[in-house]
Amino acid sequence: MLKNKHILLGVTGGIAAYKTPLLVRECTKRGASVRVVMTDAAKEFVAPLTLSTLSGHRVIVGTFPDQASSTIDAGTWHIELGQWAHAMLIAPATANVLAKLAHGYADNAVTTLALAVRCRIILAPAMDVDMWHHQATQDNVAKLKEMGYTVLPPQEGELASGLVGPGRLPEIETLVLSLEEILHKADQDLKGKKILVTAGPTVEAIDPVRFIGNWSSGKMGFAVANAAAQRGADVTLITGRVSLQTPRNVKRLDVESAEQMRHAVIKHAKGVDAIIMAAAVADYTPTRISPTKIKKEGRNGSTFSLELKKTKDILKQIGEQKNGAVVVGFALETDNGLRNAQRKLREKKLDLIVLNNPLEQGAGFNTDTNIATLIPKRGKIVKLKKLSKFDVAHQILDRVSKMV
Ligand code: CTP
Repeated sequence: MLKNKHILLGVTGGIAAYKTPLLVRECTKRGASVRVVMTDAAKEFVAPLTLSTLSGHRVIVGTFPDQASSTIDAGTWHIELGQWAHAMLIAPATANVLAKLAHGYADNAVTTLALAVRCRIILAPAMDVDMWHHQATQDNVAKLKEMGYTVLPPQEGELASGLVGPGRLPEIETLVLSLEEILHKADQDLKGKKILVTAGPTVEAIDPVRFIGNWSSGKMGFAVANAAAQRGADVTLITGRVSLQTPRNVKRLDVESAEQMRHAVIKHAKGVDAIIMAAAVADYTPTRISPTKIKKEGRNGSTFSLELKKTKDILKQIGEQKNGAVVVGFALETDNGLRNAQRKLREKKLDLIVLNNPLEQGAGFNTDTNIATLIPKRGKIVKLKKLSKFDVAHQILDRVSKMV
């Protein structure tokens, strides 16, 4: 399945780099064309000459490869290779390179290329067990996953240091299979399609220091944006306040209130092929925002009332105007789910509604999984089992891609 595939291999400075010649050989044997870039530190573990001989191409080391030793332009090599590649694999990925990628550094050939490519990037971390378990490394890995990098977990076993635990580079066979799987799945069925996604909570100001909000983490909407971008769509993500990394190749716009989200959605809905509204939009907002902090002194009694007015339903407005776009909504229901969701589907003139219950174990706010039921305007209702939000996103997009 690697026949005629273009693979970039980034090699960084860990002991497992000594295995990369076998990796290059295995990929080329299966029909792939491999270009290798490596860091200076990686040269300590594997010779560039070995990798260039096996790949049949010069290896790039350093951000500014020497013209004389490279067949491609020293100034734009990262752009050229970025456009050429179908996938990039960084193996081994050291703790240092994970930290740099999580923060957008471009200080060597591998990190520069990782920033420049649009294709899928697979990371195969390999390091000592304590470095892998370190909170900083784990935080960086979590960030990278949110950004849309595929992270292959290191294998358990004896490490070069003599310690035992997770940290080994997966077997060459496993790395090649992962590459094959990703290249196979990366059918760009949404290429050329424009998709607008909303995510996260809205916050409605009461005064300069207080607001009404909700528990939405934004994870479901971000997963949809991430998955759609990986399937080739041109994705715009409009989000409320969340603490999530922006997925690679996604345009992100931050808003606060329901009204701001409505304006942003209407502005960006023009000409899109699909709109997927996963945001938890406030249904009510204070009738007035106090310009100064509301004080408790001088108030009688022990209760306080706040007058609220209804917000405009963004999804309903979009569903009514839709202009040919496929419109997908979410329904968060704690009781009578199916009936309520079907009513929303009808009333908001949607093509598909995704029903979930925040009270179910493994569904709802701040979890990484969801238990969703997909209810299309026409066709079969499908109750999905507990899946990662990323997998639920793909299930939704499987339906959307048939309609756009
Ligand atoms: N939604 C919206 N604008 C609003 C309220 C909701 O666009 N002002 C969208 C949400 O993004 C979601 C869908 O409507 O896709 C359903 O949201 P939900 O809160 O489940 O339902 P509501 O229609 O608000 O009804 P209720 O709160 O009574 O269940």
